[in-house]
Amino acid sequence: MKAAVLREIQQPLTIEDVELDAPRPDEVRIRVVGSGLCHSDYHSISGDLLTPMPAVLGHEAAGVVEAVGSDVSEFKPGDEVVSCTSMYCGHCRDCQTGHNNVCGNNPKSRAEDLPSRITRGKEAISQFAGLGGFAEEMLIHRTGLTKIPEGMPLDRAALLGCAVLTGVGAALNRGAVSPGSTVVVIGCGGVGLNVIQGARLAGAARIIAVDLNERKFDLARTFGATDCVKGGPDAVAEVREMTGGGADYSFEVIGLPSTQEQALMMLRRRGVFTVVGMAPSGSSFSVPGVMVMAMELEVRGSLMGSAPFQQAIPNYAQLYLNGKLKLDELVSQRIKLEDINDGYDNMIAGDVARSVIVFDN
Ligand code: APR
Ligand code: ZN
Ligand code: ZN
Repeated sequence: MKAAVLREIQQPLTIEDVELDAPRPDEVRIRVVGSGLCHSDYHSISGDLLTPMPAVLGHEAAGVVEAVGSDVSEFKPGDEVVSCTSMYCGHCRDCQTGHNNVCGNNPKSRAEDLPSRITRGKEAISQFAGLGGFAEEMLIHRTGLTKIPEGMPLDRAALLGCAVLTGVGAALNRGAVSPGSTVVVIGCGGVGLNVIQGARLAGAARIIAVDLNERKFDLARTFGATDCVKGGPDAVAEVREMTGGGADYSFEVIGLPSTQEQALMMLRRRGVFTVVGMAPSGSSFSVPGVMVMAMELEVRGSLMGSAPFQQAIPNYAQLYLNGKLKLDELVSQRIKLEDINDGYDNMIAGDVARSVIVFDN
């Protein structure tokens, strides 16, 4: 099968012919139909996230089950599914208290003594996030996928696997935006637009979108922003001024220490800052302790929507089918696997909400 492979950081992905192993008892093989280009994969390309190479990137994919391992009874060939990196063990404390998105025993890859799921000749190739969605097929652990309702278009369903799950989930679950509140979202990419959309679904009265790139403002309004502010150090004073002392909730959806600090400074008393963007390995942001104490501020992290994706993804698909969740507007372009490097250039240039690879195999 064809796959886009990362062999060296800061170099284009190469399109290669690779082999996929047969499913082990607890694995599922999926024919990929749609696969979104998320910024998290780009952190591996840029080197901000250390990734074992060679690797097939991609973690936002939808497709059709082709084959299942002998222990898998919950999926069968022909099922339409969305994959997600939040595989889980089912018996740790986090799994058993409803937080399998943070399971620390997640079975992303095979045991070390087993052959690699993806190979090229004798060479083992790793899967980003236990998935490897930039390929015609994926072979993944049975806990990394969920079925979606009939009638859900698979190119758009792909985006439920990360951008929508992460963004909408951060606003609804971890951020817990309340009706009538004021929300500020820094970073209006594929994920940030979904934090905006989640805040809209939660009934926020005012949603302020902040981005360096003013071309993102129309999109932000489409997803529910009521105000747009140009990013940069002055954005803090501007947001504080226009909200009469700060927002109730802030979200940082880029992954930069400077904007994480700005998001905290944009809060009013008792405000809640939720960290969504993935900052480079080893980076940190500073939190003024006395201000957090005196203003009773909260800082929270949110990973993959902070809820079991097995329920959340089909629910979001149903919301889309009912006309309540916007997905069509999120797909700026449909591309071929061969055009993946251009797709990432478009993301870095800020030209797109999301690019989606559509396979016609
Ligand atoms: N201030 C304001 N906006 C900024 C700044 C800044 N300093 N730097 C970048 N941005 C904006 C970009 O203009 C872009 O609109 O942040 C947005 C980032 O969007 P994408 O590149 O599409 O990234 P996305 O896929 O949404 O992911 C965002 O969430 O899951 C994580 O790893 C992911 O850290 C990444 C973040
Ligand atoms: Zn677990
Ligand atoms: Zn992602």
